[in-house]
Amino acid sequence: MTIKTATLNGVATIEIARPEKKNALTLAMYQAMADALHAAAADQAVRAVLITGQPGIFTSGNDIEDFMARPPGQGGSNAEDSPVFQFMRALLACDKPVVAAVTGGAIGIGTTMLLHCDFVFVSDEARLAMPFVALGLVPEFASSLLVPQLMGHRRAAEKLLLGDPFTPEQAVDCGIATAVLPAGEVVNHARRVAERFNHLPPSAVQAAKKLLRAPQREQVLATIRTEGELFAQRLRSPEAMEAFQAFFQKRKPDFSKF
Ligand code: COA
Repeated sequence: MTIKTATLNGVATIEIARPEKKNALTLAMYQAMADALHAAAADQAVRAVLITGQPGIFTSGNDIEDFMARPPGQGGSNAEDSPVFQFMRALLACDKPVVAAVTGGAIGIGTTMLLHCDFVFVSDEARLAMPFVALGLVPEFASSLLVPQLMGHRRAAEKLLLGDPFTPEQAVDCGIATAVLPAGEVVNHARRVAERFNHLPPSAVQAAKKLLRAPQREQVLATIRTEGELFAQRLRSPEAMEAFQAFFQKRKPDFSKF
């Protein structure tokens, strides 16, 4: 099983559990997370959602083998129907509070999904990174809009153009994360925060979250669409192929010929 779900004490937990592949996300895993988010939204007993990973790894992002074998929009299908876009839309549509426990490395969508969570607690051993460009790709999940907004163009350029990894402390400093916790405490702390919503009026919480997100909602959706079109094109580019092959051959990519 690669996505484990459980609802306990008002909290729906979505646990990414594919440690042998560093929690890389396959299409089936995106679909399972989208389904779990919809189920949590519909379940009256759920007051908040907790997204978590495994000790030492939150997620290494999209499964690179899937990028090569099953890119969104393959064979003329609509990229927007793909499980990854369903997951993105489900997270955006979730009016219940979403708490992330970043148990370790968070790469690619592992970091960009945090932009859409309400509380983000990061293990002091985690590293975050958005290395889209180094993979021949472009930013996704509205990160090209939200990252510069959060931290300004200078710091966004380091993270989105150079793909520089950053520490949990930097993630707090630039507004991506709420707080840094010792590795052994991050999940329990995140769970305790999620459980606080058992003591708050649920309709008021959801109405407030909707209001907080409303001013940018349309712009975020439009950005996801624009990024998604470019991303799908880039996935088929020779630059991306070189980057993916280099990853599996455990060598540095060579972009000197492009
Ligand atoms: N997609 C597919 N497989 C992945 C993966 C990914 N995103 N991330 C890790 N794996 C696989 C590796 O290929 C390896 O498989 P193998 O044991 O069959 O060789 C296994 O998971 C362990 O990964 P490894 O790289 O050996 O672990 P590490 O501890 O040295 O490094 C990471 C961990 C996360 C830093 C490294 O795996 C990495 O950089 N992954 C890719 C991240 C990425 O670029 N994601 C896409 C963002 S858009």
